[in-house]
This record gives sequence, C-alpha cells and structure tokens, in this order.
Amino acid sequence: MSIHSHRRAIVYARARLKSTMAASFAVCRLRFRSLGRFDRFYLGLEPQTQRRLASTISVIKAQAGNKTAKAVTKAKENKTFQAIQEERREQAERSVLISCPPRFNEKKFLDYLSKHGTVNKHFFYSSYGAYAVVEFSSKESIASLKENTNIPAVEHEAAVPFKSRLLSLKWPGSQSNNQPVPNFQEQSPPSIGDITQLLSEKDSVDEQLQCLTEALQLTEENISLRFLVCSLLGDIAGAYFPECIIRPFGSTVNSFGKLGCDVDMILDLDGIYATSQKKGSGLSLEYQVKRGASERAVTQSILSVIGKCVDQFGPGCVGVQKILQARCPLVRFSHQPSGFQCDLTANNRVAMKSSELLFLYGQLDPRVRHLVFSVRCWARVHNITSSIPGAWITNFTLTVMVVFFLQQRNPPILPTLDQLKDLAGPSDKCVIEGNDCTIVSDLSKIILQKNTDTLEKLLQEFFEFYGNFPFNKASINIRKGKEQTKPETTALYIQNPFETTLNVSKNVNATQLERFVKLCQESAWLLQKREILNRSSSQSAESVLPWGFTALLLPSVTSGTGVKSRRKRKLEPASSRIKNLLDSLKIKGGETVAKKGSTNPSR
Ligand code: GTP
Ligand code: MG
Repeated sequence: MSIHSHRRAIVYARARLKSTMAASFAVCRLRFRSLGRFDRFYLGLEPQTQRRLASTISVIKAQAGNKTAKAVTKAKENKTFQAIQEERREQAERSVLISCPPRFNEKKFLDYLSKHGTVNKHFFYSSYGAYAVVEFSSKESIASLKENTNIPAVEHEAAVPFKSRLLSLKWPGSQSNNQPVPNFQEQSPPSIGDITQLLSEKDSVDEQLQCLTEALQLTEENISLRFLVCSLLGDIAGAYFPECIIRPFGSTVNSFGKLGCDVDMILDLDGIYATSQKKGSGLSLEYQVKRGASERAVTQSILSVIGKCVDQFGPGCVGVQKILQARCPLVRFSHQPSGFQCDLTANNRVAMKSSELLFLYGQLDPRVRHLVFSVRCWARVHNITSSIPGAWITNFTLTVMVVFFLQQRNPPILPTLDQLKDLAGPSDKCVIEGNDCTIVSDLSKIILQKNTDTLEKLLQEFFEFYGNFPFNKASINIRKGKEQTKPETTALYIQNPFETTLNVSKNVNATQLERFVKLCQESAWLLQKREILNRSSSQSAESVLPWGFTALLLPSVTSGTGVKSRRKRKLEPASSRIKNLLDSLKIKGGETVAKKGSTNPSR
C-alpha cells in the first residue's frame, strides 16, 4: 500500500475512532488547562509521551497498525543538550542500515542478526525500497557482522570495495514472496490536506496547535536515522581524519525539526587537536602540516576532498554538489536510502551553539514549540518560506522571531540570551572565534515567571505584534530581549544571537518582508472573528469547515504574486477582500482540502 493510500485509509478510519478520540481530546484539554496552575515552568513540565498519547494522529496511526514512535523526550530526563547528542551518536555507531526485500520473515531476520550480538532496537521504513535500522548493544557486533558480509560481484560493472554499514539483505527469492510485509515507520510528514482535516476536528485552537506539533515533529526513529546517516558519513571522512565526528545540527537537533526537513551536518575536527602529550620534559613533537592561505581556504579544501570521496565512494550518496564559495562552504547531497537531503559543513561551531540555544528555548515551555511549529507551517503554506534559497524569510529567522515575541510578553515566557549567559556555570564557558557563546546548560537553573497565556492568544498576538512591528527603524535582538535601532538599512534586521555584528535575515528583501507583514495583519484580523475561532456545531465527520488555525492556511487574499492579482487587489476595497476570504471559508472542508492537498509544504 502506498503512503498516500495508506493515509487515505487512515482518514476513513477516523469516523470509527470517534469515541477514542473524544477521550483523547479530554486528556488534551485537561493537560493544557493545568498549565495555568504552575508558578514555574521547569524543563519537562509537559511530558511529550502523554501529549502524543492524547493526539488524534497517534490514535489514528496506532489503530491503522502503524506504531508511531515517541518523540524527543530525552530532555525531560534532565540531560543536557550535549549529553543527548552524545547518547544518540553513540547509539548510531552501534547501528547498521540494511536494504531489505519488500517481504521477509522479521523473526528469521532478527535471529540471523542476533548471531552477531544482542539487537537493542530495530525498525523498518520505506524509501526507494524497504530498509531496516538495527541497533546492536555493542560495537563489536558490527565488526562481527561485517566480517560475515560479502562485497557483491557486479556484472558488467566494477564495485568500489568500501565496507560501509549500509548493507543489503539477500533473501532466497522463492522464500520471500510468501512472507508478511513488516510494519513500516512513517518518515514523511502528513500532507497539508490531512493536517487540515485532522485539525478541523479539534475542539479549540490550543488543541489544534498541539496536534499540529504532534503530527509534524520528528519521531524518535527519524532522529535515530538522521544520526545514523551522519555516522555513516563519518566513516567516509574518517578515512582521512580518523578522529573526526560528523554531527547533526539545525532542526534535526534543535527540537523544531519537521518530518522531511534536511539534515545539516558539521564535520567536527576538534578531536584532532586534543593531545595527551606530557608536558615537562622540555621536548615535544609536532606534526608537519600543509598550510592554507586562510581558515576558510583550509575548510574549502577539506570539504572539497570529502565531497569527492562521498561522491565516488559513498554508497547511497547521490547528486553531490560542492558549494564552496558560499559564506558557509558546504557539500550538498541526497542520501538515497534514507531519503534525506544533506548539507555537510565544517568549522561551523557557532551554528551548533545556535541549535543548542533553540533547543533550550524549546524545552523551557511547551508553548514555544507549538507556536514555532504553527508559525513555520503557516509560513510554508503561504510561501513566506521556501526550500529554494533566496530573499525569503527562513525557518531559522522565523524561530528567532517567535523567541523574541515570547520574550516581550508580560510577564515574559522566555528569558533573554544575556540572562541565560548569567546563569551559566564555569563549565558552560564557550568562546568561538572571539564570540562569547556561553549559555547555561543545566535547564533546572532557569526559573520562569508565571504566564498563563493560551496558545490561541499567543498566536493571535504574534500576528498582531509583527503586523505592526516598526521594521523600518527597529531591529530584533534576543540577546537583550529588546527592539533596538537598526544599524543598517536592510529590510529586516535580526541580530545574530552569537555573532552579534551579523544579521541573520540579511537575505530578506522588502517585498518578502511586506508579504509577511500583510499576512500577519490578515491572520490577526481573521483570528478576531468569532466565526473563524469557533468550530461550527453543524459539521459532521464528512464535512468539516476549516476554522481556527486551519482557516489561516486557506489561500490569502493579499498574497497574490502575479501582476494581475496585484492590480485587482489595488482596485478592490479592503472590506470586499475580507468578504471574499470569509466566503472562501464557506467552501466545504472536503473541497478545500482536496485543493490544498496537492501542495505538501514539507517539500
Ligand atoms: P529547516 O528549514 O527545518 O532545515 O530549519 P533549520 O533550523 O535546520 O535551518 P537551516 O537548515 O536553514 O539551517 C541550519 C542551521 O544553521 C540553523 O538551525 C541555524 O543554527 C543555522 N543558520 C541558518 N541560517 C542562519 C543564519 O542566517 N545565521 C546564522 N547564524 N545561523 C544560521
Ligand atoms: Mg535544516
């Protein structure tokens, strides 16, 4: 069954699951109401495990026989960002990725692998064929497995004899046809049509936003697969630099990642500089090294060589592009077995620190992630963000804007970056290329003030805030938590949190900023309308009118980009544009979904 027909089956199963869902809604409502009773929001206040159980999509997927994994819950165990990353990296080093036939006997497969050691975890997914991720309890099992794995004999071609941890399971042909299909874990996001349908059935905007996060966020399996792909790449780069580590950063680790997002990687060479040489004898040895003209030139030459190696020796790595002249040089490629688009950079420690900062903000209060996922989804549906580089607002920029907005609440929901720095201990000290990147790593030190704003209120006021923000003269600064005078004339100025002389939104032009502001104004206006905010009681399972957040995903009256639509808009009074929009909301949910369902915002 294809992913799409599988999803369709899920939607149809919905009606039969109504009673289960009603129970889930009740759990959801209770959980969110309880938020207001706490004076302090500590790390892990809202266990995601329970939220996932409360989400409709989990119920639907579980009923459909597709066990959705629990999302990132490590932080609630009071682990630091570094500890979580290290644990995942170590698990990935004990894992293999195996291409499987479409049908095979799972037990027999696991019995075969168990001859090499205990299998801790495994899961299957489908991407250009069926794959298994298998995590052993010890690294020795990998060595044993590799000893018993053959280099294939390829007819009419020659094989590069590189022994990676990407393997193929050979199942005797006559035996595989009669075998059951294993349970595949979903690795792509639901379509906007499915999301609209799912959210329309919720009882409040707050529930909608929570459900959206549940539906889009990376699953535990998807994160494991991302770390495994980095680890496989590390084996290639390790041929040149055995101490190197390839680490994921960006949305894979910052807790705002959506299924289908790219894998940003850093080639970390710091381990090479560590030395155990004893001081005191007066003598010392140094490696003779080749010198480059600059740090940047060395980074470019390392990435160039590793890019070539990935291209020529990396199994499953296709479409390798070396983009070495970019401000941050990178190698871009597709990892076909996982379906991930990968961006490999080097010498990019500040970006890792930015990921840690966003992760920290995401853990402090559950509303942060809900608001970021909603704003990102809203922006993608309206083409405010794009997967193509250009003058658009990026997801990173949007996330910083949400953080800034939450710092402005009264009382603030998030602390400023300077406050996070003041709470840091001696081991948190971090200076990268002269930039002080120190932030507290122990989240339990952060005590937040009581703020009971609902998600509905926050979403509405986010749009009002940026619909009226004085972008022409003010810049956004999350370090100070204050607007500041713009130091230059770019359309949008958002101070880079760590490299404070840089603007993270330098790429954004006036047209794109104007589109964003107009959409914010329109969305704020829509959320003031009662008919938009409340779910209509007349709707049935077959016909659900878009309302609340889903109404904001309908085509905008102000975002037309064609010349014709712009001219038409000028002639049309504002009141009739709004009326058109309200009319468009009266389209039956099914029709609207069908129209929008063809656009998958993740891609
Ligand atoms: P996705 O769109 O889901 O991939 O979000 P992302 O956060 O991973 O964004 P992206 O892949 O564009 O960039 C990866 C990471 O690089 C971000 O999370 C930031 O840490 C960093 N980054 C991206 N753009 C900028 C920028 O303009 N300035 C700085 N300082 N860092 C950036
Ligand atoms: Mg990314």
